[in-house]
Amino acid sequence: MKDKGLQTRAVRAGQARTKENEHSDPIFATSSFIFDSAEHASLLFSEKIAGNLYSRFTNPTTRAFQNRLASLENAEHCVATASGMSAILAVCLSVLKSGDHLFATRGLFGSTVNLFNNILTRFDIQTTFMPAHDTEPFADMIRNQAKMVFIETPSNPLCELVDISKLARLTSSRQDCYLVVDNCYCTPVLQRPLDLGADVVVHSSTKFIDGQGRGVGGAIVTNNSKVADAVFGFLRTAGPTMSPFNAWMFHKGLETLPIRMKESCSSAGKVARWLDQHPYVTRVYYPGLEHNFQYELASRQQADYGALMSFEVTGGKESAWKLIDALSIFSITANFGDAKSTVTHPASTTHSRISAEERELMGVTDGLVRICIGLEDVDDLISDLSYGLTHCQNY
Ligand SMILES: Cc1ncc(COP(=O)(O)O)c(C=O)c1O
Repeated sequence: MKDKGLQTRAVRAGQARTKENEHSDPIFATSSFIFDSAEHASLLFSEKIAGNLYSRFTNPTTRAFQNRLASLENAEHCVATASGMSAILAVCLSVLKSGDHLFATRGLFGSTVNLFNNILTRFDIQTTFMPAHDTEPFADMIRNQAKMVFIETPSNPLCELVDISKLARLTSSRQDCYLVVDNCYCTPVLQRPLDLGADVVVHSSTKFIDGQGRGVGGAIVTNNSKVADAVFGFLRTAGPTMSPFNAWMFHKGLETLPIRMKESCSSAGKVARWLDQHPYVTRVYYPGLEHNFQYELASRQQADYGALMSFEVTGGKESAWKLIDALSIFSITANFGDAKSTVTHPASTTHSRISAEERELMGVTDGLVRICIGLEDVDDLISDLSYGLTHCQNY
């Protein structure tokens, strides 16, 4: 499938038809598999031969999803996980050991910050945070100390970009230093970090890959067989793997991913430009606005500008909450990447477990509202926001 276009691969890659000649993909709803004999079981367990033995290790439905996502990311290996967070945890615990140093960009998803600050530290793995748009001052430290550099580009919720190729030139100067990119915001439809020199991509398939808010899942994608083996070994033993039912759902989600991303990005551009001229909005964080300081990088690094954006409303938290409560189409929910447009107040939800000082440094203020544009008519979404913005100032 390597010579085929992205949409063709999204629909066709990864399917392994059974002898029943089914057209759509089946779900292998089984926890274990039958062995031909005691010897066959032993050979499988000792990895002398390949095959299915237990669904925590391998499952044909999960494999189909993994192969399709790997194809879209131009990768050799993909391992599915129980959630996006377990994908991040699995990479960290597969690659890092006590005493190692991690560098990460500021403005990451709240639980990722929590994992780095409050869980990895218990295993003596320390993280240094750096501004996403200015990693240059950390170059020497990364060259000398980093075992892993973790970035989210664009970041959630402030849509800050990191120049992946530039950072990859730095991390690739040492063989044992890995550049890991959280590609949730863009998906492989808009950005393929491995092509730009990254070592590992992590996904929360809970987001755009599913696209309909039905399940929680994640994946790790890489061309590095050493990392792939370590991650597979960790998951097989520690257990946060994806269920076959969820794998089937995400596999089917990938079929419509390119077309959904195109539609949502187009509507998001219109919404961002509309918000940008609104008198009660002081700032819009969206890389597709020409005056955004990273517009040039976004145009070079991504195929489009994405569906998620944040904006600052005048009047701080009170106005932000009133606006959110006044909306009738946008769903108030912590998820994004859904066919249904969503709205979130990051400071009091997704980023509430981060200290106020850290939030301040990240730019997650009390007046910040995050929206993710789904597949509704864009004019209806703009009318909804227009009503909400007027209402939130006039109580
Ligand atoms: C950028 C990003 N990465 C990772 C995650 C974690 O994914 P999950 O909720 O599937 O564990 C999220 C969840 O919102 C996210 O926004």
